[in-house]
Amino acid sequence: MTESHQPTVFSSTAAMETSWKKGELSSIDPFNLKEINFTIRQPEASEMFPPEEAQLYIDGCDYETSCDDLLLAIEIANDFGDLSQMTILDAMCGPGRLGRELLSFGAGSVTFHDGAEIMINHAKKQTAKKELIDSQQINFIQSLIDQIPLPDNQFDLIAVHNSTHQLKSFEKLVTVTNELTRLLKPGGTLLIADYQRNTSQNFLASLEERLFHTKPDIVLLLIPTFEAAFSITEFQQAFNLAPQLHNCSVINACLPEMTPEMLERVDQDPVKGHVLDFSPISLRAIAQKEIV
Ligand SMILES: C[S@@+](CC[C@H](N)C(=O)[O-])C[C@H]1O[C@@H](n2cnc3c(N)ncnc32)[C@H](O)[C@@H]1O
Repeated sequence: MTESHQPTVFSSTAAMETSWKKGELSSIDPFNLKEINFTIRQPEASEMFPPEEAQLYIDGCDYETSCDDLLLAIEIANDFGDLSQMTILDAMCGPGRLGRELLSFGAGSVTFHDGAEIMINHAKKQTAKKELIDSQQINFIQSLIDQIPLPDNQFDLIAVHNSTHQLKSFEKLVTVTNELTRLLKPGGTLLIADYQRNTSQNFLASLEERLFHTKPDIVLLLIPTFEAAFSITEFQQAFNLAPQLHNCSVINACLPEMTPEMLERVDQDPVKGHVLDFSPISLRAIAQKEIV
């Protein structure tokens, strides 16, 4: 899938770009963002995709040059340094690209988790193609996100990428936060990287820019994702309700620092939207499990 086609609704690209640079929504408002009530969450129709939509998701997202999960893996590698001693859960992994990128960065152990059989099968097939070093361990687990059949205290890092917006309610986010915290080792880190719902000018201008660089048919799917996403405040509240989590921070996403080689790989992705996701349209909710 390529998102490189631009919608034809724009009469003046230059005017749009000037607005984004100032962090303002353009006066043209071609996506009618001013009409959307981002104050109230509108959940997605269902948490898990029906099988045919899951296959479309895989076909659309898991292409050779995608930099979407690469960018998050770079962010994680910049934050944690040596990943070789780390046990990592890629929760709600979908096609499993984040876990595979982390293996490329030398992660010692990656467990791929998803509720959908089609996703886990795809992740297994793709991971089997990777060259690994002997010490690297890989596991796959298919289960609901709030009932992961693993013992407590397993992981140094649990990463959840662009998936929590699928959850049906705030109460489910709280349940999932508690379940993932259970699986963290004491001192381990929960990292939720997802889109956010916001009403700020910065958010609306960044969202407009993202949609401008998105294929028109994808725009129709992407806008509801932002209506379903949790806000920074909702993540702060969910994390505060998890008794064992501390050092919580919920912040806007931004592009990680990259080496020239990394930048070259990122530039190969024809979908500019992935880079634009590392902006105020996304958030990072990060916390650690207490050491008792
Ligand atoms: C939007 S996809 C994102 C996948 C992947 N992390 C990525 O960034 O491409 C959301 C994933 O969460 C999974 N999922 C949604 N609800 C779930 C649940 N309640 N339990 C387990 N997995 C779930 C879906 O099957 C899907 O693969």
